Amino acid sequence: MTGSQNGAALSELKKVLEGQEPVSIKAAFASDPGRFAKYHVQLDDLLFDFSKHRIDDALLGKLVQLARDSEVEAKRDKMFSGAAYNTTEHRPALHTALRNFSGEPIMVDGEDVMPDVIATREKVAAFATGIRDGSIPGATGKTITDVVNIGIGGSDLGPAMAARALTPFSSPRLRTHFVSNVDGADLGDTVAALDPATTLFIISSKTFTTLETMTNAQSARDWIVAGLGEEAVKHHFAAVSTKLDLVAKFGIGSERVFGFKDWVGGRYSMWSSIGLALVIAIGPAQFEQFLRGGFEIDTHFRQAPIEANIPMLMGLLGVLYRDIQGVSTQAVIPYDQRLGRFPAYLQQLDMESNGKSVHLDGSHVTAQTGPIVWGEPGTNGQHAFFQLIHQGTEIVPVDFLVAAEPTQADAHHHDLLLANCFAQSQALMQGRDIGEVAAQLEKGGMAPDEVKRLAPHKVFSGDRPSSTFLYRRLDPRTLGRLIALYEHRVFTMAAIWDTNPFDQWGVELGKELASKLVPIVSDAGAATDGLDSSTAGLVAH
Ligand code: F6P
Repeated sequence: MTGSQNGAALSELKKVLEGQEPVSIKAAFASDPGRFAKYHVQLDDLLFDFSKHRIDDALLGKLVQLARDSEVEAKRDKMFSGAAYNTTEHRPALHTALRNFSGEPIMVDGEDVMPDVIATREKVAAFATGIRDGSIPGATGKTITDVVNIGIGGSDLGPAMAARALTPFSSPRLRTHFVSNVDGADLGDTVAALDPATTLFIISSKTFTTLETMTNAQSARDWIVAGLGEEAVKHHFAAVSTKLDLVAKFGIGSERVFGFKDWVGGRYSMWSSIGLALVIAIGPAQFEQFLRGGFEIDTHFRQAPIEANIPMLMGLLGVLYRDIQGVSTQAVIPYDQRLGRFPAYLQQLDMESNGKSVHLDGSHVTAQTGPIVWGEPGTNGQHAFFQLIHQGTEIVPVDFLVAAEPTQADAHHHDLLLANCFAQSQALMQGRDIGEVAAQLEKGGMAPDEVKRLAPHKVFSGDRPSSTFLYRRLDPRTLGRLIALYEHRVFTMAAIWDTNPFDQWGVELGKELASKLVPIVSDAGAATDGLDSSTAGLVAH
């Protein structure tokens, strides 16, 4: 069977599985002591444990066949080749070129993109080094102490998440801030404690037209001019964009402008010069480790057989739950406080990529596509929303992420963190049935009537799925690996659904309507004729 078109392979598999009960994870563990040995993949220090999923050999075999029939490998090779994979925007999706250390060329329209990738990376590194060592000072000659990245979505979430994740690797002399929201409170609160003479703004925008970013950039410019005068602007701004002509108009000199190509999607762009704020924070050498981590996963994704290919397995499990079993969300719970923004980063990566309703050929999908991705760090989540994951009526597959060793943290704290992380996936899998609950309550001396009344409330069904990603420690290489794993998970799922994970037309309508409403909202006397009654009522109020 082949069914690469329109997700046909998935429809076939759904028919085969129709009416079948999900595999009992609990029972599978009880009957097979070798289950972990079978269902984990180790890539150096990175362990991917997928044994606590609703799979057995037969189902896993069918999922692997689904990947084959959906031609995931051929599609993957096409993406890496530089072909125009993003068919609705007529361009390649080549973020992988930004972390290509193979020494091999990557051709786009007959030209090797690698010399330009390397030259841009070197230009970023030189500027970052100058800011870090103070050889590129502000207008008054003072050393820069605060770097403010102004960007939104893919021009914010990646560097913001990573700067926090990699705090122990950051220059202690520099503070990094991220301003994204058009709400003036974001910029206002950020600059309140800053000195213009020691502040550098990086305007990060692929298109250099995004309303939020351009508004914040203008206000930041006004703040610098008010504090230091017009002449200071050229010393206190840098820009990252694909639109070099628009940046020039803003008044930023070309030596402080860092480009990237339109074949890098916004949510895939932190590997490019969009990472400038991060490069300044952690330095070019650590940033290279981050890129190399991504490259290691690219190599694994391209070479490992499907059965042992971590991102492909992640994607297949994602399709199993989302589409075949109708599960609507995916929780990502890093037991790593510094990965606090990782779920938000993945939200954009996954939901902007896979929140699609049409196949590549424009026909409507019959599948359920992208899950709602959400999460917060553990152990905090345990005391907030884990109740629903353990006992609610909704099944929520969980990705647990945890380091074996702490990075600059207390070892005892870390033992508690690890124990809690492992205990959660164990509890989700095992559950506790009514017999166990009753026995425990009786042992504690509870009266039989009370045991009967209380026991149902204390039952955990178990059989709730999770993956665990266990890595040595959270460093730049590991972070690069984790991000690339999720990028390829998203790709694998889109390949099975036969959708385009690289466009984002769904964000356009809101942008268009907002720009029409700006003059109406700004002018108290403006006519609201032609607006729907709700919008008109809100504006009037
Ligand atoms: O509105 C969505 C979006 O286009 C994202 O895809 C992108 O990451 C973000 O806006 C920011 O865009 P830009 O980098 O062009 O300012």
